[in-house]
Amino acid sequence: MYPERVVSGMRPTGTMHLGHYHGALKNWIKMQSELPCLFFVADWHALTTHYDDPSIIEKSTWDMVIDWLAAGIDPSQATIFIQSKVPEHAELHLLLSMATPLGWLERVPTYKDQIENLSNRDLATYGFLGYPLLQAADVLIYRASQVPVGEDQIPHIEMMREIARRFNHLYGKEPGFEEKALEAVKKLGGKRAKLYQELRTAYQQDGKEEALEQARAMLDDAQSLSMIDRERLFGYLEGSRKLILVEPQVRLTEASRLPGLDGRKMSKSYGNAIGLREDKDTVTKKIRTMPTDPSRVRRTDVGDPNKCPVFQLHQVYSDQACKDWVVKGCTTAGIGCLECKQPVIDAVLKEQEPMHERAQRYLDDPSLVRAIVADGCDTARKLAQETMRDVREAMGLSYS
Ligand code: TRP
Ligand code: SF4
Repeated sequence: MYPERVVSGMRPTGTMHLGHYHGALKNWIKMQSELPCLFFVADWHALTTHYDDPSIIEKSTWDMVIDWLAAGIDPSQATIFIQSKVPEHAELHLLLSMATPLGWLERVPTYKDQIENLSNRDLATYGFLGYPLLQAADVLIYRASQVPVGEDQIPHIEMMREIARRFNHLYGKEPGFEEKALEAVKKLGGKRAKLYQELRTAYQQDGKEEALEQARAMLDDAQSLSMIDRERLFGYLEGSRKLILVEPQVRLTEASRLPGLDGRKMSKSYGNAIGLREDKDTVTKKIRTMPTDPSRVRRTDVGDPNKCPVFQLHQVYSDQACKDWVVKGCTTAGIGCLECKQPVIDAVLKEQEPMHERAQRYLDDPSLVRAIVADGCDTARKLAQETMRDVREAMGLSYS
């Protein structure tokens, strides 16, 4: 019923590194040419954990947008915006909070984990408990069909699906819905009306997903229907409610597997990261000094690539011939570690080159970035306002 749409966000809590690129951004870049995408800076989400030190948020926001653009997010394809510039997210968050059981929030696994992991911060706050609900509002307000996120976010997406379902259940009742839906069925015309009823029964009684798909496709093609009738018929297919909010699907980002300089997951807090736009010399030096198989002390000692973080980078950046060369050279002490690192250095610098180029334009003229974001905020806001109109009406707040 609603068009396909992709929504995802990132928190502006520091500069981005190549782990973010191989984890999330590459996936976003792929999706932007396939479907309409909205990508936003989740600055309110950053405040839930950094409320006592908000000074980094604004700068991180602009840096992050430049990082996205540098990586290849294309503002002519995707909508880029800042969460707090679309205050409708906050309104939906508030309205959703009315009917959200506390237990749903307390049970989200990240809640207790984070409180323990970030024990240096006091996260016993109202805002932090509401983190996944705000995230639900971020997505539901655009009636997104897909949310590209990493595995850690799955419980959040599951919760937002429950929130959408509950909302439709509580507020999707329309007086006389059934009658109105039946009227709309008639408008489909004899043959199609009959087919619609058959498919609806096949789905509702026998759970046939194909029947649901087929019926939806038919509705998409039914030109004679008004928007509102079409919406009713979509809702009527699945039950006897109007679908005001859409349950989004997870689009899982493959775990990036880009290890950091020490072989652990690349992370700013481990100090093992390579910045997305870090300069050539620093990158070269970081890789040159990264640890190797500890048993290879002298050049003449043989090594084991499987015990070496450099080889993990080869797995990401090198072709088979190069990896064979590493294995042979390392296990026979035929090559030195610096020699072994050179192809990785070359590959990383090559990957970063177009990023530096793209970023330079925006660094030279920051007003370009401001304009892209202002445009994106406008686009996002219009979509958000459409949904909010329906949400307010459903909750009895339209005052017309
Ligand atoms: N919680 C997400 C993260 O930490 C960031 C985020 C906020 C988000 N709102 C979102 C991601 C909406 C996807 C959709 O990565
Ligand atoms: Fe690691 Fe390469 Fe040195 Fe072997 S030769 S220990 S794989 S850096």
